Amino acid sequence: MKFFIDSADIAAIREIKAMGMCDGVTTNPSLMAKEGRTDTDAVLKEICTIVQGPVSGEVTALEAAGMISEGKRIARIDDHMVVKVPTTYEGLKAMAALAAEGISVNATLVFSVNQALLVAKTGADYVSPFVGRLDDVGEDGMALIGDIVEVYDNYDYETEIIVASVRHPMHVVDSALLGAHIATIPPSVIPKLVAHPLTDKGLAAFMADWKKLQGKQNG
Ligand code: E4P
Repeated sequence: MKFFIDSADIAAIREIKAMGMCDGVTTNPSLMAKEGRTDTDAVLKEICTIVQGPVSGEVTALEAAGMISEGKRIARIDDHMVVKVPTTYEGLKAMAALAAEGISVNATLVFSVNQALLVAKTGADYVSPFVGRLDDVGEDGMALIGDIVEVYDNYDYETEIIVASVRHPMHVVDSALLGAHIATIPPSVIPKLVAHPLTDKGLAAFMADWKKLQGKQNG
């Protein structure tokens, strides 16, 4: 399974990339705003240089024509750019037009199987169902991933599933078990994936025994 990092935080992306845990990056207007950088194209270019993999930058227009021209501008930032388009009726028009021009598209804000089905038919490279936000309203985010995996498998759609709105380690475990292609993970969740109390306890015991042995050697 590929790991994308869901962030526009350059330092965090650099650190996680160096660990081999960053195959790509997803951003959105809120993540950009969090970093407080107004030169968003420069941020995306810098991320592409670091990651050398797919980097999603989101359009902000609401009509298809505006999404298409914005998407073309975003695609020109770097060969690794993926244009993130909201999954609305207008968004579907833009996805199909951009995909027809060979521009890589990531359909965002997906909350249903039908939305995912429509996205695949536009020829978009990626679909991003938001699991955390579904959980937040009392729905089962990971059940949606299972359904989309099944539907895409039924028809051999090539659109890759990015599990988005990941909030905790179980979202990553379930993504892998369900065979999702990618999970886009906030930097804060990465350390939680490795943490285990038995690892910490075992390491503390090893260090204590090692210290005793050193004491014997020196005494
Ligand atoms: C996906 O590409 C989005 O940027 C992201 O996963 C949204 O996550 P949130 O629901 O935590 O804002």
